[in-house]
Amino acid sequence: MSQKHTVTAALPYANGPLHLGHVAGVYLPADIFVRFLRLKNEDVVFVCGSDEHGAAITLRAKKEGTTPQAIVDKYHSLNKKAFTEFDISFDIYTRTSKPIHHQTAQDYFKVLNDKGSFIKKTTQQYYDDEFKQFLADRYITGTCPNCQSEGAYGDQCEKCGSALSPIDLINPISTLSGKPPILKETTHWFLPMNKHEQWLKTWIKEGKLDEHQHHNPKEWRNQVIGQCMSWIDGGLQPRAMTRDLDWGVKVPLEEADGKVLYVWLDAPIGYISATKEWAEEAGKNWKEYWSGDTKLIHFIGKDNIVFHAIIFPILLKEHGGLVLPDNVPAYEFLNLEGDKFSTSRNWAVWLHEFIEENPDKKDELKYVLTSIAPESKDSEFTWKEFQARINNELADILGNFVNRAIVLTNKYFEGKVPSKGKLTNVDIDVLNQLAEFPQKIEKLIRAYKLREAQAEAINLARLGNKYLAETEPWKLAKTDMARVETIMNIALQITASLTIAFQPFLPQKAKKIAEFLNIELLKWNSFGKEDLLEVGHQLNKPSILISKIDDAFVEKQIEKLEASKIQKESTNFPPQKPETSFDDFMKMDIRIGEIVEAEKVPKANRLLKLLVDTGVDKRTVVSGIAEHYNPEEIIGKKVTVLMNLAPRKIRGVESQGMILMAENENGELTFVSPEKAFKPGSEVR
Ligand code: 2FM
Ligand code: ZN
Repeated sequence: MSQKHTVTAALPYANGPLHLGHVAGVYLPADIFVRFLRLKNEDVVFVCGSDEHGAAITLRAKKEGTTPQAIVDKYHSLNKKAFTEFDISFDIYTRTSKPIHHQTAQDYFKVLNDKGSFIKKTTQQYYDDEFKQFLADRYITGTCPNCQSEGAYGDQCEKCGSALSPIDLINPISTLSGKPPILKETTHWFLPMNKHEQWLKTWIKEGKLDEHQHHNPKEWRNQVIGQCMSWIDGGLQPRAMTRDLDWGVKVPLEEADGKVLYVWLDAPIGYISATKEWAEEAGKNWKEYWSGDTKLIHFIGKDNIVFHAIIFPILLKEHGGLVLPDNVPAYEFLNLEGDKFSTSRNWAVWLHEFIEENPDKKDELKYVLTSIAPESKDSEFTWKEFQARINNELADILGNFVNRAIVLTNKYFEGKVPSKGKLTNVDIDVLNQLAEFPQKIEKLIRAYKLREAQAEAINLARLGNKYLAETEPWKLAKTDMARVETIMNIALQITASLTIAFQPFLPQKAKKIAEFLNIELLKWNSFGKEDLLEVGHQLNKPSILISKIDDAFVEKQIEKLEASKIQKESTNFPPQKPETSFDDFMKMDIRIGEIVEAEKVPKANRLLKLLVDTGVDKRTVVSGIAEHYNPEEIIGKKVTVLMNLAPRKIRGVESQGMILMAENENGELTFVSPEKAFKPGSEVR
């Protein structure tokens, strides 16, 4: 059986759109790695999908005033579309709500439960007495016991990355009621992680588990090994693998009614279900991609390290017959213009928005994100650097070289590849250097050093530019055409190699260069060769490969960012209510009315009794506006009236309708009055 690769990219929660931080630190590097493997003709499957369970989803639904189902449907399709349009080449992008996943996760749980991998325990857990709900994970926040930062979640501190239990938090608060929780008994299935410390240590540090399971620990990033060792050395705790929630994969045991699997149990199993789903369609055997000498590689953000390098490996080993990860390339965080990306503060560049506004700049964005990828430490995206990288590197080096090579060939040789004559030392040197690039770049990609790998690809274009600058074919064209033929042949062979070098990083640009050269896309084993283009081969006329970014573009992006932040900060309004139907809306009879009389309701500070001319009658309406308006100042005011609201007795007065009011963030009320002098009785729709 040939060596296989299973590459996973963290399943993003379907609770919000993706921003450039996600792209730079998970999906783009994973995509580059996989595109490279495919160019090498390796057998690889690249899986991903939406993570649709857990408190991240249910809390978001609560915040937006809608259902968890509506949330996951909305963001699954938004994110899936963004990935497709950004050309992230997943073999499958599925979702954890699929029946095949529920089945796979439940079967997995049963296998482990039957093997005795869990310990069933009844313990005291935090409970919100007002909301009648146990408070797991993100339902509870407090101070992190490890780094003392505020706002740590019940399952994890996002500041220091440590995995927590709600009980660990200092000053815990329910995110439902905002009040301190009480303790209440409940039963759960725990994974005794403490029992696994020994083998985990050897496996992570030395890369050895048994004859099948080994990796080279030197290939793992220092931060990943460091984080894992510090958790293990700090002592692993048993961790509950089930939750009292009504959203998720049901625990497949009768005695566990009303409980679901912990989302961090079900989500990584999602990689397996995704492989199964893909294999069924592709006519493959999924098992082969999860066993034998398959290399399993998880691309993740650093906040996911514990789940992929400790918890999931325990689950894989306990299950048996499945490979453990060969590597867990975790990325640090990307910042944006001097601040952290933040969904709640709307400080982000959203992938779907970028694509919509700049459909012609996708590869340009990829180039910049890889150049600044947070591989070993946090890094920063700024629009100024976006401009500089594209103009000074992509356009001036790659674009310029490709353009010169093709334009000069068109000019001197009617676009036909000229032949190579006697080689000078300069030629031999440049061809020798060209031949070294494939190995250099391959080594870097296999070591997950994609920033450097892409920089080497640019260096190849730089080499081409240097060669043309040194040999100056445009001068020789007057005196020594035979020499020009050789130079242009070599320049074009370098250009052909560039289509290979850039395929993993900038697939669209690589394709475009291949179109200029009038060739099919080549595989990695052609890279670096000096005879990729035959003598006499006809080229096409080039168009612009890379457009420069002007200052106005940069200013517009920065203004947009600032504006969205301010807009978000100044709105403290309640979230949108659940959807209503058009028919329900049309049942309401809303009209312009005029206040003809107004007086205070005795012993009610907030109420005024109004007589309103509705155009069809004059009727009494009681309105809670006494703290905002005096009776005398509102006589003659045009207002909006909901006419067919069922009459209600308020403080002994029958109110026949309701005056519509707008309320601002300070709780002040104002009438909704027609802007033109419309008569009472005019309908509002
Ligand atoms: O952090 C997150 O966004 C998680 N939804 C990642 C899950 S990765 C895997 F386990 F599925
Ligand atoms: Zn912490």
